[in-house]
Amino acid sequence: MRIRPTDQLEPTVFVIFGGAGDLTWRKLVPALFDLSQDRSVPANYSIIAVDRVDLSDEKLRRRLHDGVKKFSRQGLVKAGEWSEFAGHIRYQQGDFKKLQTYTALGEQCAKLEKEWGEKVHRVFYMATPPSMFGEIPKCLGKTGLASDREWARIVVEKPIGYDLESARALNAILAANFEESQIFRIDHYLGKETVQNILAFRFANPLFEPIWNRRYVECVTITAVEAVGVEHRGGYYDHAGALRDMVQNHLMQLLCLVAMEPMVSFKADEIRNKKADVLHAVRPIHRDAVHQCVVRGQYGPGWVGGKKVPGYREEVGVSPDSETETFVALRLFLDNWRWQDVPFYLRTGKRLARHASEITIQFFGVPHQSFPAESTLDWQSSRLVMSIQPDEGIVLRFQAKHPGPMMHLRSVEMQFNYQDAFATRSPEAYETLLWDIMKNDATLFMRADQVEAAWRLLMPVLDVWAAAPPGDFPNYAAGTWGPENAQGLLAQGHSWPLPTELLEQCKKKRKNS
Ligand code: BG6
Repeated sequence: MRIRPTDQLEPTVFVIFGGAGDLTWRKLVPALFDLSQDRSVPANYSIIAVDRVDLSDEKLRRRLHDGVKKFSRQGLVKAGEWSEFAGHIRYQQGDFKKLQTYTALGEQCAKLEKEWGEKVHRVFYMATPPSMFGEIPKCLGKTGLASDREWARIVVEKPIGYDLESARALNAILAANFEESQIFRIDHYLGKETVQNILAFRFANPLFEPIWNRRYVECVTITAVEAVGVEHRGGYYDHAGALRDMVQNHLMQLLCLVAMEPMVSFKADEIRNKKADVLHAVRPIHRDAVHQCVVRGQYGPGWVGGKKVPGYREEVGVSPDSETETFVALRLFLDNWRWQDVPFYLRTGKRLARHASEITIQFFGVPHQSFPAESTLDWQSSRLVMSIQPDEGIVLRFQAKHPGPMMHLRSVEMQFNYQDAFATRSPEAYETLLWDIMKNDATLFMRADQVEAAWRLLMPVLDVWAAAPPGDFPNYAAGTWGPENAQGLLAQGHSWPLPTELLEQCKKKRKNS
């Protein structure tokens, strides 16, 4: 983890709108607590949780304590450590639409500034329902809390819009009150160590870059699949669906990192420019081609991990005749020199057979097969798998000679595993992101143009789907790999790789050795 001494962080006030809500409880405060334990918070900091409900500081702290015990990386919390941290948390009851909420916040910040004797950074974090995303920046603007370009920041959680039009409208409100450099749009995937490692792997090693193109790469598969269903979020999910929930943001970001050109420097805007170039290069999906390039699915009842689970339409908060997709597979092409005609297959879904996010680069076979036919019976293409989670590592599959008098070739794996290599637990994505916000480093955050480019690309799909209901939902059983027709997206000889099979094999081998 990129930890610098605490004294380099300047005093910061975190204002969390939605401070009594689920995200604060589950992610934000546990991450801030972990950062505090790693001494990665400023010497002077304060967390002001703002929400509509009537709560005392004490009640809120008790609830947050419970969240920290459940979700923080540190796990068990010692009483002394907690009370030191909890002393930085206060609650302010307020309506997000009323200006007096903001004036009171301004007074609090001024008071802290006076107490600490130095200027403070003000981070305004919107951990509220999306319906508030347009209101809060306006009120911050009106009350002057956004005006200090260097010291005020706003953090926006996904979903950033519901479609291109609403994303543009939200970006316009943000831009009217903040400079782009003050806006931190969160995609928590970008905070994952293994996702950041894509750039390290590609551009800190000269080895792979020369073959990272259409001459050597046959296809790329990006998978982010989950075994869980919609859990307690049926109400939200039924209005979103997998395309909005996962593809528009997380999968598009992974695509950008895998396909982008080398950056000239590690400056936030340089990296974000290179990523935006990828989105601009994606071949537009024409409305009449949507059915050939994209497959949607919805899970019915089934078995996951030996347990019978209900179908999507039976989940709490979901309409019994819902047509919302819980699975999407897409085939995309990038129109540029590096990737022309290389298929990028993207797949995401809930209630699939396993939880796994990974990127597979499949290389072409050798141009001329000089080994006798009987040597290569077990031949499988060479592949590089970047496993983002739950296994964290990289596996390279290639051919080797099987020991013995005959020239028999077998596929073998070489692997790098985070735990073995670094013997330390990776920080949670939110720790990294919150730390970057304190450091004012926007590298891992989405810029307005990226968000809009991703929506622009997916709008034909959303429009065609809205006009033509699926008719065959549910079309896959929970615990399987999704609808059969996802196979139809693949060119001959390509397959959806079984996630984590490579790392699983490596793990078994390690256990047996
Ligand atoms: C969120 C989605 O952005 O990402 C969820 O809204 C999804 O539906 C989650 O489950 C996956 O993130 P992670 O980090 O748990 O893989």
